[in-house]
Amino acid sequence: MSESDSNEKLRVEFNRWAESGWGEGMEEDHLPITLPVLDLMQLLPDDNVLDMGCGAGWLARLLSERVPEGRVVGMDISDEMVRRARRNYVAFDNTMFVIGGADEIPWDANFFTRAISVESAYYWPDPARALREILRVLREGGSAWVLINYYRDNPHCHQWAEQFATPAHLLSAEEWAAMFRDAGFTNVAHRRIADPTPVPESYTGRWFRDAAQLRAFREAGALLVRGTK
Ligand SMILES: C[S@@+](CC[C@H](N)C(=O)[O-])C[C@H]1O[C@@H](n2cnc3c(N)ncnc32)[C@H](O)[C@@H]1O
Repeated sequence: MSESDSNEKLRVEFNRWAESGWGEGMEEDHLPITLPVLDLMQLLPDDNVLDMGCGAGWLARLLSERVPEGRVVGMDISDEMVRRARRNYVAFDNTMFVIGGADEIPWDANFFTRAISVESAYYWPDPARALREILRVLREGGSAWVLINYYRDNPHCHQWAEQFATPAHLLSAEEWAAMFRDAGFTNVAHRRIADPTPVPESYTGRWFRDAAQLRAFREAGALLVRGTK
């Protein structure tokens, strides 16, 4: 599949998610693993932050409160996610939302001091190219923080592959870290971010076999990979 075909498939699929209201709904699921990352990022009031794959914009809202003298740019390949993010967070005047794909970021080089991406990177058609793009738009000394729940070292997410409507990369922590280094990042490191959310006694959703698997998934935690320019 060509890159433009892959991007079009992603756009259509995530527009469908947005129209189903799932963009806003993801805040509840992703907030417990994202808050510890915001602490690790040690944001400064005047940071310029990129949120790649921003969905309906809830994280950009949190970021904008933490960088009152800086700028927040939420970017997403789904125009419907971006439309909703703009509608949801119109009042935040240091924040804007832009339609764009990670593999060709529509932004000048050396602008951002931090980049974050939550639960998006495994969908990127060419993650190595996307990381090079993130490096390009980061300023010297800036850092990138990629958080994902779908990765090889956590066996309790592998069954998601059957549910995805678009291709997704199931890579190990070491493979992601190597990709960061190959892109040109330094100080590359990875760690797990456990999800402390209590698990109900029974589980009827479609992503996990049962409550026990959901518990094991949350204990294993999300994968955080970071690197510096
Ligand atoms: C699972 S959602 C997560 C959204 C948001 N980060 C959150 O946590 O609520 C994945 C998001 O990544 C976006 N996405 C997927 N591939 C992308 C790409 N190549 N470039 C930019 N965004 C992409 C999707 O449109 C979708 O909004």
